[in-house]
Order: sequence, then structure tokens, then C-alpha cells
Amino acid sequence: MGSELIYRGSETQPSSDSYSPKPLKPWASVTRPLHYLLREQRPLFVFVGIAIATLIFTVFPTSPAPYVAPHSRFTTLIPDSITYFPIETQQKFSSAHRLGFGSANPTGKIPLGLKRKGLRIVVTGGAGFVGSHLVDRLIARGDSVIVVDNFFTGRKQNVMHHFGNPNFELIRHDVVEPLLLEVDQIYHLACPASPVHYKFNPVKTIISFILLQNLITGLAKRVGARFLLTSTSEVYGDPLQHPQKETYWGNVNPIGVRSCYDEGKRTAETLTMDYHRGAGVEVRIARIFNTYGPRMCIDDGRVVSNFVAQALRKEPLTVYGDGKQTRSFQYVSDLVGGLMRLMEGEHIGPFNLGNPGEFTMLELAEVVQETIDPNAKIEFRPNTEDDPHKRKPDISRAKQLLGWEPKVSLRKGLPLMVSDFRQRIFGDHKEGSNTNNASSS
Ligand SMILES: NC(=O)c1ccc[n+]([C@@H]2O[C@H](COP(=O)([O-])OP(=O)(O)OC[C@H]3O[C@@H](n4cnc5c(N)ncnc54)[C@H](O)[C@@H]3O)[C@@H](O)[C@H]2O)c1
Repeated sequence: MGSELIYRGSETQPSSDSYSPKPLKPWASVTRPLHYLLREQRPLFVFVGIAIATLIFTVFPTSPAPYVAPHSRFTTLIPDSITYFPIETQQKFSSAHRLGFGSANPTGKIPLGLKRKGLRIVVTGGAGFVGSHLVDRLIARGDSVIVVDNFFTGRKQNVMHHFGNPNFELIRHDVVEPLLLEVDQIYHLACPASPVHYKFNPVKTIISFILLQNLITGLAKRVGARFLLTSTSEVYGDPLQHPQKETYWGNVNPIGVRSCYDEGKRTAETLTMDYHRGAGVEVRIARIFNTYGPRMCIDDGRVVSNFVAQALRKEPLTVYGDGKQTRSFQYVSDLVGGLMRLMEGEHIGPFNLGNPGEFTMLELAEVVQETIDPNAKIEFRPNTEDDPHKRKPDISRAKQLLGWEPKVSLRKGLPLMVSDFRQRIFGDHKEGSNTNNASSS
């Protein structure tokens, strides 16, 4: 049997010698593709495609500015003065920072069709009062946030509503221990912030300030992240200048009971600037004035939380000294807005972030009475050591360079805090009732 190729249907293939191929028509190889191209309105689709591509490249010609290696930028740009530093090229850098982690691609272009990534941001102390509000805003903006907190004064409840969100991570960690994370920005808030807590173990407070600052700024240096320090109006001590400008160097008692905090923050500012000048770390410094709002630690002895908790519990409001010392009170959402503007902006600072509205402690007690209980009594106690007589921020620099100023007055902000405190005090009986040890901080 000769070899046969069997087709479907079991027909026998015609023998090879009976096959004669059709002779090719002349020009068929040229005309066939042309016919194909011209049929079914294909040229029209081609022209429409070209038009769309041209339009896209005309409207979005390039992607944002290229990433600039952080350490190469600073050497020639840093003046000697510590007051504030407008750095021209940081405009460029700030848009590079907005590209998100891992954005250092050599051409600086994001391929068309890819969405710009959010940033990867560490918030130390992010489970605390201010930190948790900052985390809310960053997550809402689309960034990925890693909170590092040892829960010394912070609470898991402050950030629990983000659990399950892939853009949120919580690490229980004491930041005096080394930590390596790849991030774009670091907001450094971790620190015992109220007198009750920082006076509890003052030696640990001052030592941990230095260790902590060193480690966290070191981390910023290693990964090329921008670093923001939350300093404080306490660096002005008992000020001899009123209102306080950032150029004022302060009047701090270096051996007093508050100096573990005041000098600790001053040292933190020093280390921040030394890392900046010496190692080219991108830094920002905020000097925060008294801030209040929901999620404040109830019994930490800060004056606003103290008065509110006392009025709600029908206890007398404890005023230390004659009650004529003044403070300025800023609502937390205003502060968070200022911190974010500072981080994203092009100026290092330091910047005062506070509400210039100035109240004596007795005036504050009156506002609390009006808001919560007009019958609340006032009880005078001897003043605490080194309690500053006056505090009021001059925020002209923040207004001018960050375009920031607070919007929420004390009378508007206080009720927002009261509903949170009421719910936590009467809905959560685990909160203690120790309201002693207060100060005007
Ligand atoms: N709230 C204010 O009025 C005010 C005023 C000036 C400055 N500041 C500064 O702002 C920052 C935040 O203050 P806050 O009012 O939210 O205080 P907070 O006590 O509510 O928050 C501080 C957070 O840091 C955490 N923390 C403390 N030590 C830590 C450590 N070693 N490792 C990890 N986590 C640690 C705490 O558990 C807490 O969650 C602080 O640095 C504070 O000095 C606040």
C-alpha cells in the first residue's frame, strides 16, 4: 500500500503527480495586502487612532519632575542660619516625593495609563492623640501609613478603624530600638507629651529623647526619607518675648522639673538640624502650641482635657496658681493641616503651629462652664514649678510661607471634644478618675 495522507472524512488524498498549483497572478503579492488594508473602513480606524494618540501626548506631554538623589542636593544649598531655609530645589524634590516610594526611575516618567502612587509614610506615635488624626488624613489622601507606637500613652482604639485597610499597618515597637523601614516620609510624634507622663521618669525621658531622635533621623538618612519633627512651644520656656516668634531662642530653666521635656525637645531640634547640615537629611520642624480635640488622653493632666473631664464628672475645675497665666488652644484638625503643609512644602522651619487666640486659665474654665456645666465650681491649687506665665504663637511665618492658619475657634472646637470625652467617660468605665497633677500645658 502506497503512502496516503488521510483527511477528515477519510477521503483519499489525490496522488501527488495529479496536483498542479494555480499559477500566481502577476502583482498579486502587492495588491492583496493593499486590498486588505482598504477594506472595511480600516484606514479610518488608523487615522482615528493616530489622532487620539496625538491629543494625549499634546495634553500630557511629560510626567512630573525627575527624582533627585537626596544626598546630592544639600551640600551647596544650606545657609548657616537656623531660622528658616527656603531651598529652591526642594520644589523639584517635593514633586518627586509625591511620586511615591520606588519612584526613582531614571527617566522620571510614569508610563502612560499608570496612576501616580500614594506615598509610604511612617508615623511614630501614630496611635496617640495628634498622630491618630494625622493618620486619618493621610489614609484619606490615598497614602500608605505605617504606625509605630509602644502604646505608652497611645491607644489601639485610636487607629482601630483602619484595621483591615491594606494601606494601613500598625507596629508595636519602642522607637528607642532600631527599626528599618523603606519609606518616603517620616512624621515623628512618638514621645511622652504630657507633664504627668514625662515627669514620671525624667531620666528616661531625656535619654530616650536623644536616643529616639538619633535613631529615627538615622533611619531617614539611610532610606532618603523626608523627616518631620514635632517639637513644641516648650522650647520657649517661660518666654520673655510675647507673642513668640520662631527667631526667639527661649528662656528655659535647664535644671527644672520640666526641663527633661523642654531641653529634650530642644536637643531633638538640634539633632534634626545637625543631621540635615551634616548628612543632607531632608527635615522639617514644627513647634506645636497647646492642642486639644477628640482622642486626647483623658487623665494626662493637660489643662483642656483636665477641665473637660472634671466638668463632665461634676468635679471642681482645678486651676493652678492665680489662673492668670495664658495659653493658646488649637483644635487638632488645624494642627494636622499645618503638619501636612509643612511636610509637603519647601521650607524647613521651625514653624510655630498654634492658634493665636489667647486665654487665661480662668477664661478657659469659663468657656468649659459655658459648654458643659454652668454650675461647675473652680478650685484653686498651688501652681506647679516653672509653669510658663504666657504663651501665644506668632504665626506670621506659617501664614506667609505655608499659607496656613487655624480655622477652628475654641468655642467651636470644644463641643467636638466634649462629645468624644462624654462617650469615653460614661461609655467606658475603665478610664480612671485621677485628675490630679494638672498643669496649664
Ligand atoms: N498635643 C499637644 O498639645 C502638643 C503640644 C506640643 C507638642 N506636641 C508633640 O506632638 C507629639 C504628639 O503629641 P500627642 O499630644 O499626640 O501625645 P500622645 O501622648 O497622645 O502621643 C504620643 C504617642 O507616642 C507614643 N510613644 C511615646 N513614646 C514612644 C516610644 N518610645 N516608642 C513608640 N511610641 C512612643 C505614645 O504611646 C503615644 O501614642 C509629641 O511629640 C508632642 O511632644 C503635642
